[in-house]
Amino acid sequence: MGTYVVTGSASGMGAAVVQRLSAAGHAVIGVDLRDATVVADLSTAGGRAAAAAAVAGLTDSLDGAVMAAGLGPLPGKAAAILSVNFGGVVDLLTAWRPLLAAGGARVVVVTSNSATVVPLVPRRAINALLAGDPERALCAVRRFGRMAPTMAYAASKNALSRWVRRTAVQAEWAGAGVRLNAIAPGAVRTPLLEAQLADRTQGRQVRSFPVPVGGFGDPGQIADWVVFMLSDAADFLCGSVVFVDGGSDALLRGDDWPRPVPLRRVPAYLRKLRARSGG
Ligand code: NAI
Repeated sequence: MGTYVVTGSASGMGAAVVQRLSAAGHAVIGVDLRDATVVADLSTAGGRAAAAAAVAGLTDSLDGAVMAAGLGPLPGKAAAILSVNFGGVVDLLTAWRPLLAAGGARVVVVTSNSATVVPLVPRRAINALLAGDPERALCAVRRFGRMAPTMAYAASKNALSRWVRRTAVQAEWAGAGVRLNAIAPGAVRTPLLEAQLADRTQGRQVRSFPVPVGGFGDPGQIADWVVFMLSDAADFLCGSVVFVDGGSDALLRGDDWPRPVPLRRVPAYLRKLRARSGG
């Protein structure tokens, strides 16, 4: 049996994953604001460092990690959204990398289809997060006024998806036996979604958003995908962002990806190819 860490373990999709892993006999270290093995506030750098250290004090090897702690796009929360949704994943996984490598771990990061289906998300915010500058990211989203939390949410999830793709392939990750991937759910019936539905403006937007298969997802469905992505089936899965969103991304962005490399990106593409082939 393995040892797994799950952030956001107290509620929603994180809790559904914990339930499945525990039922299979695994040891699960939960990290959350409450009702968890490690109680920590991932919205502050100090809280993230304390959570990282507390988990490292409990085990020297991890078979897997599921990063599900997150805040929805609710009013007045832009700064916390950026720090929990992005820093709360990147800082912890960076700190736990030796534990993950020791266990040949599979890691599943919960992003969102907001990474792709929210239009006009400021690229400056995404780039600032990836550059480790959350203050600059916050300035970029604050310009959107009432839409700032939506932009913060989408920017945090877009940056996170890109961080997963960039990081997963590195020698210290893929080369060290760690499989790092992301799952991008659409609207899933959890307390996070219920809070959005209870907000007049957001509720209207969520209810009118197109979902080809109809309705909302169930946290158990997403947890089943996560458990699959933690299994041996993930041995050849690396840097993937798996959309489980009832078809919204395919409907709205169907022709945007996959795309061949455009002319202006060929030099950078060839540089990467040569660096990896040693040529
Ligand atoms: P949830 O609200 O049921 O669970 C989130 C958990 O994160 C809670 O237990 C909460 O206490 C924890 N958390 C929040 N802030 C924290 C902090 N500062 N420090 C430590 N823990 C904190 O939400 P849900 O829906 O299960 O969300 C899980 C993940 O899925 C989140 O990253 C969310 O952004 C993402 N997601 C959710 C969707 C939905 O429709 N429910 C859609 C797409 C992505």
